[in-house]
Amino acid sequence: MEESLLYRWLHLLGLLALSYLVLKQVWTLLIGIKNHILSRWWKTNLKKKYGGWAVVTGASDGIGKAYAKELARRGLDVVLISRNVEKLQKVADEIEKESRQKTKIIQLDFTGGPDIYPKVEKALKDLDIGILVNNVGMIFSSEGCRFLEVPNLNKWINDIMNCNVLSMVQMTKILLPRMVQRKKGLIINVSSDAGARPYPNAVMYSATKAFMDFFSRSLYYEYRSDGITVQSVMPLYVSTNMSGNIGTNFLVKTSADFAREALNTVGYTHRNNGCLSHCLQSYILDHLVTETMRTSPILHFISDYTINLQLKMMKMN
Ligand SMILES: NC(=O)c1ccc[n+]([C@@H]2O[C@H](COP(=O)([O-])OP(=O)(O)OC[C@H]3O[C@@H](n4cnc5c(N)ncnc54)[C@H](OP(=O)(O)O)[C@@H]3O)[C@@H](O)[C@H]2O)c1
Repeated sequence: MEESLLYRWLHLLGLLALSYLVLKQVWTLLIGIKNHILSRWWKTNLKKKYGGWAVVTGASDGIGKAYAKELARRGLDVVLISRNVEKLQKVADEIEKESRQKTKIIQLDFTGGPDIYPKVEKALKDLDIGILVNNVGMIFSSEGCRFLEVPNLNKWINDIMNCNVLSMVQMTKILLPRMVQRKKGLIINVSSDAGARPYPNAVMYSATKAFMDFFSRSLYYEYRSDGITVQSVMPLYVSTNMSGNIGTNFLVKTSADFAREALNTVGYTHRNNGCLSHCLQSYILDHLVTETMRTSPILHFISDYTINLQLKMMKMN
């Protein structure tokens, strides 16, 4: 009698646990459909919701350039920031021709440390900026290798911290006060899936991207009641110079497709991988591939091989 009662309780508990797990997956699926399918049809009107100007860092190439062009297509004027004036001017001309939006360029090297920001502040002083895209980022110094083996390690540490971390914090510090005053604003921080899990042989990159993600999420909760949206975007592979212009397929997006899909998710989620394909890949990495598996010597070897192949391709380009 007692045994059968115990059996029934265990049975019930098992059913409850199973229902919880199934409902959790169904919920994740519904959220995915909302963020990546519905958002294609019901887009947030970025200009109306946040204001007339957007600032994009690292805007002369890759994902930043694609964000800048897509924002202009959606009716915003754009400030483009990066190092190379010729490349910046070319993107600005393309935007003015294709979208008939205004542009402004600022030449800046984000590895320069805290002293460079007064120049940015001055240049942005008179613009009604509603959107900031902190996109600029750098990866390996010269090859994927262990932390202590990175050539010129001290310089590398300073450069990557300044470029990937300080730039985001300082740009936010400059533009957030005006957004709070106007009770509207959008800050998009382009982190990486490398910030969601440890990446041996890209230690500094992975850690700076995790910082970006945590900064974004904490800031989102702090300022959402002030009308500010902060979004952490964590892409996997996008075909750009940084990824060795790797060929595109279902797994690897073009920067234009990526930026378009990622901008569609604004207003739907404050943290995501930017596009459906990357969300699915990240889901698989989260649920089916454990950290031990991912960092095992065999996968480590494959990952080193892939990274070195990419670096060779980058050098050839
Ligand atoms: N591509 C991917 O697969 C991938 C995946 C995950 C995350 N991400 C993230 O996405 C962001 C953009 O990457 P991407 O692939 O588009 O890179 P990219 O193609 O190498 O473009 C980088 C952009 O940043 C500018 N830039 C680089 N260093 C700079 C510096 N020190 N100061 C100012 N501007 C600088 C470059 O222009 P100039 O050379 O003219 O300065 C260029 O406009 C990065 O934060 C990256 O971590 C990329």
